[in-house]
Amino acid sequence: MSYTAIILMFLLAQQSQLTDLPCSSCHTSDNWTPLASPLPFNHDQTLFPLRGRHTKAACIQCHGGTTVTERHRFSAAETECNSCHMDIHYSDFGEDCQRCHDTESWVMDNWWRKHDLTLFPLTGAHRLLPCGDCHGAQFSRITGNLTTDCYDCHTQTLAEVISTGDHTENTDCIFCHNTRAWSPVDMSHHDYLFPIYSGNHKGTWTSCEAECHIDPNDYSNFSCGLNGVCHEHNESQTNSEHDDVGNYVYESQACFNCHSSGGGGD
Ligand code: HEC
Ligand code: HEC
Ligand code: HEC
Ligand code: HEC
Ligand code: HEC
Ligand code: HEC
Ligand code: HEC
Ligand code: HEC
Repeated sequence: MSYTAIILMFLLAQQSQLTDLPCSSCHTSDNWTPLASPLPFNHDQTLFPLRGRHTKAACIQCHGGTTVTERHRFSAAETECNSCHMDIHYSDFGEDCQRCHDTESWVMDNWWRKHDLTLFPLTGAHRLLPCGDCHGAQFSRITGNLTTDCYDCHTQTLAEVISTGDHTENTDCIFCHNTRAWSPVDMSHHDYLFPIYSGNHKGTWTSCEAECHIDPNDYSNFSCGLNGVCHEHNESQTNSEHDDVGNYVYESQACFNCHSSGGGGD
C-alpha cells in the first residue's frame, strides 16, 4: 500500500473531525491540492463573506495551522478585522475599522468620497490640502476634537484681514465666502434672503456697503437705498408711488416687509 493511500485512509477515518462538509466541496478526486477550481464551496454562506482583497487571499492565510486537522478547523477563524490585522492606530479610533476602511486597501484612494460622508465634505481649496494640515501628524486629530466651523480654523486669517483693512468682524465666513478662495466673495445664496442677482435689483448696485448694508459689522442693519442713496427710491417719487397704499411709511424695514422679494406689488 502506498504512503499516500495510508494517509488517505487515516484521514477518511478522521473525516468527521476534519469537517462536516463533504471533501468534494473543496477537493477533486485527483489530488488534495490544488483545491477544486471553480470551488463548489461558497464562502458567502459563512459568517464572513469574502470581499475585496480577501477574495484573492489563499485559504490557509486565514485558516492556518501546522497540521491538516488544524487547517480544516474553519470555524476557528476570528471575524473581527483587528484579530488578523494590526491596529496601527493603537485603538485610538475604536474597534470598528469598517467605519473608515474597507477590504480593498488600507491606503484610501477613495478618501475624498468618504470624507463627503462626514459633516465636513472637502470642497474647493480644502480638497487640495494634505490631510495633516487639518488632522495633524499621524492623524492625531481625526475625530472628536476637530471642528467644522470656518472661524475655528481660520481665526488667524480673519485677524490678519481685520488688521490690514476694513474687513467685517462677522465670523460667519460661509455667509460671504466659499471654500474655493477668499476673493471674490460668494453671495450666490443672497437671492434666498433678498434677490439681488435676479429681478428688479439685478445689477443695480455696485458695492454691498455703500448702497444697502450700513454697518459692515452687522449685515442685518440695512437700508433700502433711501434718502438719496438710490435714485429710484428718493422720497417724493416713492411716496407718490404709494398714494393708495395703507400703512405705507418711508422707512427701510417697512419697504422690506412689503417687498421681501424685491418686486413691485408683493
Ligand atoms: C471547505 C473546504 C474544504 C473541505 C470541505 C475539505 N478540505 Fe481538505 N483542505 C482544504 C484547504 C483549504 C486545504 C489547504 C490547502 C493548501 O494547503 O493550500 C486542505 C488541505 C487538505 C489536505 C492536505 C493537502 C496537502 O498537500 O497539504 C488533505 C489531506 C485534505 N485537505 C483532506 C481533506 C479531506 C479528507 C476532506 C474531507 C473529509 C477535506 N479535506 C475537506 C479545504 C477543504
Ligand atoms: C480573509 C480571510 C479568509 C479567507 C481568505 C478564507 N476564509 Fe474561510 N472563513 C474566514 C472567517 C473569518 C470565517 C468565519 C469563521 C466563523 O464561522 O466564525 C470563515 C469561515 C469559513 C468556513 C465555515 C466555517 C463554519 O464552521 O461555519 C469554511 C468552510 C471556510 N471558511 C473555508 C474557506 C476556504 C475553503 C477558503 C479558501 C477558498 C477560505 N475559507 C478562505 C476567513 C477566511
Ligand atoms: C481571518 C483573518 C482576517 C480577517 C478577520 C480580516 N482580514 Fe483582511 N486580510 C486577511 C488576509 C490573510 C489578507 C491578505 C494579506 C496579504 O495579502 O497581505 C487580508 C487583506 C486585507 C486587505 C488588503 C491589504 C493590502 O495590503 O492590500 C485589507 C484592506 C483588509 N484585509 C481589510 C480588512 C478589514 C477592513 C477587515 C474587517 C472587515 C478584515 N480585513 C478582516 C485576513 C483577514
Ligand atoms: C476614524 C477612521 C479610522 C478608523 C476607525 C480606523 N482607521 Fe485605519 N486609517 C485611517 C486613516 C485616515 C489612515 C491613513 C490612510 C492613508 O494614509 O491613506 C489609516 C491607515 C491605516 C493603515 C495603514 C495604511 C498604510 O499606510 O499602510 C492600517 C493597517 C489601518 N489603518 C488599520 C486599521 C485597523 C485595523 C482599524 C480598526 C481597528 C482601523 N485602521 C480603524 C483611519 C481610520
Ligand atoms: C480642510 C480640513 C480637512 C482636511 C484637509 C481633511 N480633513 Fe478629514 N476631517 C475634517 C473635519 C472638520 C472632520 C470632522 C467632520 C465631522 O465631524 O464629521 C474630518 C473628519 C475626518 C475623519 C473622521 C471620519 C469619521 O467617521 O469619524 C477621517 C477618517 C478623515 N477626516 C480623514 C481625512 C483624510 C484621509 C484626509 C486627507 C485625504 C482628510 N481627512 C483631510 C477636516 C479635514
Ligand atoms: C478643520 C479646519 C478647517 C475648517 C473647519 C475650515 N478650513 Fe478652510 N482651510 C483650512 C486649512 C488648513 C487651509 C490651508 C491653510 C490656509 O490657507 O489657511 C484652508 C484653506 C482655505 C481656503 C483657501 C485659502 C487660500 O489662501 O487659498 C479657503 C477659501 C477656505 N479655507 C475657506 C474656508 C471656509 C469658507 C470654511 C467654512 C466653511 C473653512 N475654510 C473651514 C482648514 C479649515
Ligand atoms: C458679511 C460678509 C463677510 C463675512 C461674514 C466674512 N467676509 Fe471675508 N470678505 C468679505 C468681503 C466683502 C471681502 C472683500 C472681497 C474681495 O476683495 O474680493 C472679504 C475679504 C476677505 C479676505 C481677503 C481676500 C483677498 O484676497 O483680498 C479674507 C482672507 C477673508 N475675507 C477672510 C474671511 C474669514 C476668515 C471670515 C470668517 C472668519 C470672513 N472673511 C467673513 C466679506 C465677508
Ligand atoms: C405697506 C406696504 C408697502 C410699503 C411699506 C412699501 N411698499 Fe412699495 N409698494 C407696495 C404696493 C402694494 C405697491 C404696488 C402699488 C401699485 O401698484 O399701485 C408698491 C409699489 C412700489 C414700487 C413700484 C413698483 C413697480 O413695479 O412699479 C416701488 C419702486 C416700491 N413700491 C418701493 C418701495 C420702497 C422703496 C419702500 C420703502 C420706502 C416701499 N415700497 C414701501 C407696498 C408697500
